[in-house]
Amino acid sequence: MSTFWSWYISLLTIGTLLALFWLIFATRKSEIHKNETEQTMGHSFDGIEEYDNPLPKWWFMLFIGTIVFAVGYLLLYPGLGNWKGVLPGYDDGWTQVAQWQREVEQADGLYGPIFAKYAAMPLEQVAQDEQALKMGGRMFATYCSVCHGSDAKGAVGFPNLTDKHWRWGGEAETIKTSILNGRMGAMPAWGAIIGEDGVRQVATYVRGTLARLPVAADAAADQQAGAALYSSNCSACHGANGTGMAAMGAPDLTQPGGWIYGSSLVQLQQTIRHGRNGQMPAQEQYLGNDKVHLLAAYVLSLSRKAKTPEQANSN
Ligand code: HEC
Ligand code: HEC
Repeated sequence: MSTFWSWYISLLTIGTLLALFWLIFATRKSEIHKNETEQTMGHSFDGIEEYDNPLPKWWFMLFIGTIVFAVGYLLLYPGLGNWKGVLPGYDDGWTQVAQWQREVEQADGLYGPIFAKYAAMPLEQVAQDEQALKMGGRMFATYCSVCHGSDAKGAVGFPNLTDKHWRWGGEAETIKTSILNGRMGAMPAWGAIIGEDGVRQVATYVRGTLARLPVAADAAADQQAGAALYSSNCSACHGANGTGMAAMGAPDLTQPGGWIYGSSLVQLQQTIRHGRNGQMPAQEQYLGNDKVHLLAAYVLSLSRKAKTPEQANSN
C-alpha cells in the first residue's frame, strides 16, 4: 500500500476512534445530573416519554470497552495501513496465510512422524493396525465419502469399496495405485455402431447369459444375436467369458453385484448405447504418498471383511 493510502486509512481510523471517545464523554451528562431526574427530553412516543437521565454505568463501560478493544486489536493485528501488528509468534506480522502455515506446520510436526511410521510398513500390516485404521477412516470420511459414501458402499456411478468386486484389482498395491494415480474408466458408446436392435440384443445377452439375471421369456433370439455381437465387439475388453479385465478397468459382466450403472435391461442399454466414463481423481499431488498409504490400508481392511463373490452368491 502506498504511504499516502496508509496514512489516509490510519488517520481516518484513529480520528474516528478519538471522535467516538469524545462523543461518549461529551454526551455523558453525569456532571449535570448526578442523580436520576424527572425531567423529560420532551419526546413522546405513543404516550411514552423519555427521561433525561445519563446512560446506565454498565452501558457506558460497554462503549469504553469496545474502544479499548479496538485499540488493542489495531496494535496486535494489521488494521492500520502498513502497520503489521505486534501479535506474538509472528515475526512479520499476522496474516491469514501465516496463521494457516503455522497450523499446518504444527500438524505436520505432530502427525508427520506417525504417517511416516506407517508409510514404512507394508500395507497388509497397516491394515491390521487399529490406530492406523482409525486415522484412515477419518481421512476417508473427509476426502472420499462424497463419492464412495460414508460407509464406503458406493452409489450409482461410484464403486462399493467394501466388497470383493474390483474394477481395477483388489491387491494391496493395486488399490494404492488406484488412489494415488486415479482411474479413468472408458467404456465406448455403441449406439451408433451396432444400432438400437444391437444394443437391445447385446444388453439382453449380458443380462440373461453372462449375469444370469431373469429376462423375458421370448428373449432367446436376442440372447443368441447378442452373443455374436458380444464376441466381436465386447470381448476384447470384457474378456471372452465376460469376466472383465482389470488392466483397463473393464468390469466383470458375470458379477452384477459389482456393477455401478445398474443391471436392469433399460440401464444396461443406456450404458451400452452411450458408453460410460467413470473417473476416480488422483490423490498423489493432493494428499501425498503417506496419507494415501493409510487410506489404501483402510480400504483394504474394509474389503478383507467382505465375502468373496462365490461366498456371497452361495447364500
Ligand atoms: C475399450 C474397452 C471396452 C469395450 C470394447 C467394451 N467395454 Fe464395456 N466397459 C469398459 C470399461 C472400461 C467399463 C467401465 C466404465 C466405467 O467404469 O465408467 C465398461 C463398463 C461396461 C458396463 C457397465 C458395468 C457397470 O459397472 O455398471 C457394461 C454393462 C458394459 N461395459 C458392457 C459392454 C458391452 C455389452 C460391450 C460391447 C458392446 C462393451 N462393454 C464393450 C470397457 C469396454
Ligand atoms: C469425485 C468422486 C470420487 C472421489 C472423491 C473418490 N473417488 Fe474413488 N472412485 C471414483 C470413481 C467414479 C471410481 C470408479 C472409476 C471407474 O469407473 O473405473 C473410483 C474408484 C476407486 C477405487 C478403485 C475401485 C475398483 O473397483 O478397482 C478405489 C480403491 C477408490 N476409488 C478409492 C478412493 C479413495 C480412498 C478415495 C479418497 C481419497 C476416493 N476413492 C475418492 C470416484 C471418486
